[in-house]
Amino acid sequence: MASWLREVRGLIPITREKVYFDNAGAGPLSKPVLEAIEGFARLWAERGEPWDEALEHIVEARRLFAGLIGARLEEVAAVPGVTYGYNALLSSLRLDGRGKAVAAPYNFPTTYYSLHGLRSRGLLKEVVILDSPEPGPGIGDWERAIDDETVLVVVDMVSWITGKLEDLKALAEIAHSHGAILVTDAFHAVGVIPVDVKRLGVDALLCGSYKWLMGPHGAGFVYVSKRLLDELDPMLSGWMAVEDSVIERMWRGEPLFERPFNVRELKPARDAKVLEWGTWPAIAFEGTLAALKLIHRYRAPERYSSHTSRLVERLMDGLEAQGYTLITPRDSKAAIVTFRHTRPYEVAKALYAHDIIVSPRPGRIRVSPHFYNTPEEVDRFLEVLREAEKRLKAG
Ligand SMILES: Cc1ncc(COP(=O)(O)O)c(C=O)c1O
Repeated sequence: MASWLREVRGLIPITREKVYFDNAGAGPLSKPVLEAIEGFARLWAERGEPWDEALEHIVEARRLFAGLIGARLEEVAAVPGVTYGYNALLSSLRLDGRGKAVAAPYNFPTTYYSLHGLRSRGLLKEVVILDSPEPGPGIGDWERAIDDETVLVVVDMVSWITGKLEDLKALAEIAHSHGAILVTDAFHAVGVIPVDVKRLGVDALLCGSYKWLMGPHGAGFVYVSKRLLDELDPMLSGWMAVEDSVIERMWRGEPLFERPFNVRELKPARDAKVLEWGTWPAIAFEGTLAALKLIHRYRAPERYSSHTSRLVERLMDGLEAQGYTLITPRDSKAAIVTFRHTRPYEVAKALYAHDIIVSPRPGRIRVSPHFYNTPEEVDRFLEVLREAEKRLKAG
């Protein structure tokens, strides 16, 4: 085993006990994450709210996240999760009811509901969800669906349920050619595969802390391109999201609460902080910062092509050799592998009995290795799966 791999596995306690292939459900917490959370909570208990440390660390987390996606610090907001960030963004778009939203069919559910809400409030004319068989629509389907009435295209970068990696660059070009923006939920991409928002040309990207970044629940990030930031017109806001917030005062070296706040009007912050409405979940960001440091230190996304993609390939080869039908495209460039199964919950239970963790989903099993997993773990999974299948068939 390569020395970096042995080293990082030494920091991830679950690797001692389990073959953990549910990174698409929730990444495992590492020792540095536990220490960061515990250290911050202890500091708070013993010395009072560690506000200065928290702020510094949230900015640092934004900076490290920006570094993972090729963005600038001022284009990244620190929010409590994907759903929150998405709703903050949607409520800041200038929507006049004449435009339609076009969404991919295999997004995680969270991105659809608010679109329906906007439509029922008359802010969107129509919500079109593409109707394509798995693993998802091709470029031609998108070209047919996106037209001059489209204002918003919403697509998960990697689908949670099919594992397909979308060609965001092509989709952004199609969206832009009709004057629409492209918003992507990249929760299943950032941290495990290389992502470059500038190269892809996406207008906004969302990501949470607790999967491939390996942080705790309760933190997330929204990237908003400078061009889109300049067009935002927030309908909803809060004390942290305005031009003269306590944070802005602090950065200007002013006392925080000496001058009264102008509550007679809304003057939104000019950078991505415009989506950070209220106090951040500081404890979650402490853990997330430690997690981001680990992802950076071990260059997890850069290792995709030389390591993680090989695990994915090995998995796919082994599953196909056992006769399973893959849902995930064979040439996948992400790290979720799903395959058809009529009894996914029973299989997952049988695997769990042998300390192997995967996620059963309707009609399929999802296996999601990360950069810290090993080829031996893939082989062990395949071997136990074969045995479990034999026992299930025998009744
Ligand atoms: C792609 C995707 N987006 C969003 C979420 C939920 O995000 P949050 O809980 O941060 O709102 C999930 C959860 O599994 C997900 O898979």
